Formats: sequence, structure tokens, C-alpha cells
Amino acid sequence: MTRLRLVGFSANIQRPSKTRTLVEAVAAEAAVRLPVEVRIFDLVDAGPGLGALSRDQLSLPARRIVEAVEEADALVVGTPVYKGAYTGLFKHLFDLVSPEALAGKPVALTATGGGPRHALVVEHSLRPLFGFFTALTVPTAVYASDPDFRDGGLDSAAIRQRVTEAGSQLASLAGARAAAVAPLARIAGGAR
Ligand SMILES: Cc1cc2nc3c(=O)[nH]c(=O)nc-3n(C[C@H](O)[C@H](O)[C@H](O)COP(=O)(O)O)c2cc1C
Repeated sequence: MTRLRLVGFSANIQRPSKTRTLVEAVAAEAAVRLPVEVRIFDLVDAGPGLGALSRDQLSLPARRIVEAVEEADALVVGTPVYKGAYTGLFKHLFDLVSPEALAGKPVALTATGGGPRHALVVEHSLRPLFGFFTALTVPTAVYASDPDFRDGGLDSAAIRQRVTEAGSQLASLAGARAAAVAPLARIAGGAR
């Protein structure tokens, strides 16, 4: 199987970042199960140029992230919880993504917050957004909060278990989709 493109996008505006740590952890779990090329981006990579009102006004670093998201075979997305939902800039980036680009694409959902109060943000904010895109969201979404991290890493067996589940589900869905698409591509290309 050719290497699939697994893109992680984390809406953190600072580093080190708990959200980026979580996104990287889910991507790593998928990567041990599937031949993938992993690229992780965050809002620090995007810089201030993401604040553009339209796609053609994006700075080059911000446009590269939007394009990487659109061209990925599978995604891991993550956001810190701000005011009970995904951050405004997380939504802004996906507002600039083409509506067709994520159709049928496997997406793992993650978020972090200061405490457990907004744990369902993954279900109430993130899953409906990717439902709009008709993306294939993985069943296990992962939320972690401050007590689940120590020294910059995940320090909770329960969260690590969910990370493993999400990464494994993402790998299964991405592998199955690639296997289904490959014969169709051969037919379209005229191969025997
Ligand atoms: C503006 C702002 C709003 C926040 N609102 C919430 C919130 O509503 N609920 C919550 O649990 N944490 C909230 N937090 C805490 C962050 O979600 C939390 O620290 C997160 O893990 C930071 O992620 P990062 O390390 O990737 O930047 C807020 C933080 C900021 C800066």
C-alpha cells in the first residue's frame, strides 16, 4: 500500500500545547498501524495570516495548512476549549476549507480544556462541524484536561486508552477507504 497522508491540525496558539500533544498522540497510534506520512500543523505555524477574510488573502503558511487539510487521506483535529466550544480560529480555518474536500474522509476528533466541565465539546461542537463536511468521524473522540497531563505528556491511563482506540479506528477507516478507492482509480486510469 502506498503511504497515506495523515495530517494533524491543532488549534493551539502557544507551545508547549496540551492540544498538540493529544493530536500527536492519536496520529502516532494511527501511524503504527498503517503506512502513513504524518504532518502536524498548529496555529503557531499558521501565524497571523490565518485571520484573512477570504481564502485568497491567506498568508502562504496559512494557505499551506488549509491545502494540507484538504489533500489529506485522514485527519486528526484538535482544539483547546475556549468559552465552552472550539476556538474561533479553529472554526475560521475550517470555514476556509472547501465544502467537498472532506467528504468521506476519516477524521479523529480531540479537544482539551482546563477541567472536565466541557468534555462533551467533542460531541457537541466538533462532531456536528465534521458532519457538515460529511466526513467520516471516528467513533471514539478524545477529550483531556489539565489533570490528565504532567511534564508535557499524557499522564492518564484512561485517556491513553482512548487515544489508542481513536488512533486504531482512524487507521482502520483510512486503510479501508484506501483499499476501496485503489481499484476504482485503476479502472479510471485504464489499468488491467
Ligand atoms: C480564552 C480562553 C477560554 C477558555 N475557556 C475554557 C472553557 O470554556 N472551558 C475549559 O474547560 N477550559 C477553557 N480554557 C482553558 C483551555 O481550554 C485549556 O487550558 C487548554 O487545554 C489549552 O490548550 P493548549 O495547551 O493546547 O493551548 C480557556 C482558555 C482560554 C485562554
